Formats: sequence, C-alpha cells, structure tokens
Amino acid sequence: MQSVKIGILGLGTVGAGTAEVLTRNASEITRRCGQSVLVTMASVRDTSKPRSCDCTAFTLTQDPYEVVSSDDVDIVVELIGGYDLAKDLVLKAIENGKHVVTANKALIAVYGNEIFTAAEEQGVSVAYEAAVAGGISIIKNIREGFAGNKIEMLAGIINGTGNFILTEMRDKGRTFEDVLVEAQELGYAEADPTFDVEGTDAAHKLTILAAIAFGTPLQFDDVYTEGISNLDLMDVRYAQELGYRIKHLGIAKKTESGLELRVHPTLIPEKRLLANVNGVMNAVLVKGDAVGNTLHYGAGAGAEPTASAVVADIVDVTRTLGVAAQYKVPALAFQRDSIKSLPTKSAAEFDCAYYLRIEVEDVAGVMSQLSAEFAEQNISIEGITQKEPAKDQDTVSVIFITQKTIEGAVDRVIDRLESLDIVRGSVVKIRVEHLN
Ligand code: NAP
Ligand code: HSE
Repeated sequence: MQSVKIGILGLGTVGAGTAEVLTRNASEITRRCGQSVLVTMASVRDTSKPRSCDCTAFTLTQDPYEVVSSDDVDIVVELIGGYDLAKDLVLKAIENGKHVVTANKALIAVYGNEIFTAAEEQGVSVAYEAAVAGGISIIKNIREGFAGNKIEMLAGIINGTGNFILTEMRDKGRTFEDVLVEAQELGYAEADPTFDVEGTDAAHKLTILAAIAFGTPLQFDDVYTEGISNLDLMDVRYAQELGYRIKHLGIAKKTESGLELRVHPTLIPEKRLLANVNGVMNAVLVKGDAVGNTLHYGAGAGAEPTASAVVADIVDVTRTLGVAAQYKVPALAFQRDSIKSLPTKSAAEFDCAYYLRIEVEDVAGVMSQLSAEFAEQNISIEGITQKEPAKDQDTVSVIFITQKTIEGAVDRVIDRLESLDIVRGSVVKIRVEHLN
C-alpha cells in the first residue's frame, strides 16, 4: 500500500500532539484514507530539547527549508506559528508542489488571500481547520454544512485562553496574571500571550470565519478589537448580579449598511448557552436564513483537540490528492471569482445594547442628572442599578443598561457624563448582546 508522506514544521504543543495522534490512531486513519499516513520529517528550533512525542521514526532537522523542499514529503504541516517565517515556508512549500495544512490563524488572517491564490495556481490544497476553535469543525460546518444558507451573523467564544482566564476570575476570584501563567503552562496561550489577552488572536479567527460566512476576502485590518486585560473584576461581579455573564466574543454581522466585525468583552444574559461556555472551551453561534440558530461547542486550545483538527485536514487532503482544483471545496468557501469586499462599519456605527458603570458622588439628585443625559441623546434605558457605597468611600457605582442603540450616541453621552462634577473618573462601557 502507498503512503502519504508528512513533513511537520514545529513539534511544540500542537506539532507533538499531531505526531502522537497520527501514530496512535494510524490504523483508523489508514482505514479512512485508503492509504497510510506517515511522518517522514520534522523540523524544530532545537533538536536537543526533549519532546512529548516519539521522534525515532522520522528525520528531525533544525532546517525547516529542508522539509518544504524534500522529495520525501507530500503534505507540509506548518505548526511553527507567527507571520514571516511561516509565510515564507508555506509559499515555498506551495511553489514546490506540496499541499499544506496549518493551524496558524495569524498567517491565514493576514496573508491568506495571497496564499490561497498561490495554492490555486499551483493546484495544491491549503487546509486550516485547526486555525479556528481547535476541537470544533467550525470551518467545515460553515463552508460545507451551511452552503445552502445566507449567513446572517455569527458570534463566538473563540479564544480558549481568554475564556479560561474569565472563568477562573469569576468562579474562583483568581487574578488575571495568575490564571494567564497557568494557561501558558497548559499550552493554551500563543507564543506572545498579548495576542490572547488583547484580542488579536480572536480577531484573526473572526477574520477567517467572516470571510467564509459572507464570501468576502480576509479583512483582518477591518476588525474592531478589544481584549480582556482592562476588564475590572468589579464589572464581572456586577454583571453577574444583574443576570449576565461577561464573555470575550468575536461577532460578525451582515447588515444593510455593511459588516460589523468586532471582538470585545460582552455581557450575555446568563440563560444563553454561550454564557455557560466555561474554561478553555469555545463555542460559535451561527445563524443562517434557512437553518436558523446553531451552536457549535468544543475545546478551543490544547495539544490533542487541535491535533484532531490538523489530522482531519491531513485526511481530507489525502482523500483529494490528484483531484483538480475546480472539484475541491474552495479554500474560502466561495468560488474565487465571486469573492467580494463589503464595507465595514466603524465602532460609532455599531448597533447593540450597552452596560455603563459610572462612579458618582453619593449625593441627592444624582440619578436625575445622569438620566437627563441619556434622554438628551434619545437613548432608552433598560435598567438602572445603584450599588451600596463601599466602606470609607464617598462614591457609589451606578449602572445603566441601555436598549439597543447606535454606539456614537452612547459615546456622546459618556463624554457628557465625564464632564459632570458629580462623576469621578472614566465611565466603563461594555457592549451587551442578547443573541436571540
Ligand atoms: P509552540 O508550542 O510554541 O511550538 C512551536 C514549534 O515551532 C516548536 O517546536 C519550535 O521549536 C518551532 N519553532 C518556533 N520558531 C521556530 C523557528 N524560528 N525555526 C524553526 N522552528 C521554530 O506553538 P504551538 O502552541 O504548538 O502553536 C503552533 C501553531 O498552532 C501556532 O500557529 C498557534 O497559533 C497554532 N495553534 C495553537 C493552539 C494551541 O492550543 N497551542 C491551538 C490552535 C492553533 P522548538 O520546540 O525547538 O522551540
Ligand atoms: N491561544 C489560542 C487560544 C490557541 O487560547 O484560543 C487556540 O487557537
């Protein structure tokens, strides 16, 4: 029986997990592919480092370019991460006629348009299921399962590290920094963890999901991005008291006036399924005009959940070896010549509800002064809560939850509120989504 030969770039968390799953499940994989899948080569930065996978059956090199040009490799699996080196290696692999599988969302979100064009010209596949929400087959679901739908919106918890941090902070009162260290030790975090906590990783993933949902090119620069690093534990607690949970969401909506592409902490009513996705788990809500609301749930990071998606891509590529490009599922779900850019909205044009926390002097008449500013901008209020003043403090927290409104109007209210003598410091604004 013939074998398909795999060259893996990087044997870190995901690379070693992939080598392990390919070995452990070799006979199941062969039965699915109709031929065996063998790792023949792998590259790492430091060959003397101990590895969690068995490296005795393949050639291990410190030169990744050896892998992408080897005659002994049919499919290059890029698991190094980052932008420049990964891009150069992937383009070299394509130039050399190799198929590529990658888990690198940064690479696909920023350089995917160029990479897919190069692959199409060379007649090779580039598969990237592991790039978004590791253990969930969300790319396949949207690209193939929903091919009969107009997709209206999607919203997801798509960064495992961020969700793990928020869950531990809320449930155990742990500090942000302490939980981040644990996420790094568990192999969840990116090499540069600011990508996780500042929302960049989620923005990479949202870029990919939006493109395959709406038939647009990858538009990473158009994603509005906020992370979780400035989130105050006080708001996590207040949100809970008001019947909400704060989750870091990636949201893509197609509206009459353009796309909303945004990543930010979001209050979600606690009864919604997404509000109850905890720890490193990811979940993506996808709404299609025919199918309605669907929810996709699974582990979002970690060695084997991610390896599961990488290996599924290897199997897919193996099954279509020798198939002409026009008979394969298009990399970005839509035929290349039908992919069209759409205008994206600025933050001032976003349309949702808002949680505003205002620190005010504990004096009479405060509520009417604050409420008047909302009325001035025609913003309807869903609810107002005043908290008890903390011991030895002369200020109280007042929380307004607005109805759905345009963000520009909310920002004008915030400017006015911050100029009032009774208001101390900055107003905290967190978007609210009901996800109906
Ligand atoms: P990792 O643990 O840091 O592993 C990176 C691997 O690449 C290591 O084996 C490293 O070699 C090698 N490498 C790094 N820089 C290199 C260089 N300049 N030249 C040659 N080799 C180099 O990373 P990871 O967590 O496995 O992530 C890999 C990719 O998967 C990234 O794109 C990441 O975003 C993506 N991803 C990760 C997860 C996850 O849960 N970790 C989930 C989904 C997607 P040494 O081992 O010798 O240092
Ligand atoms: N750092 C990423 C996360 C890895 O925590 O979600 C999975 O893509």
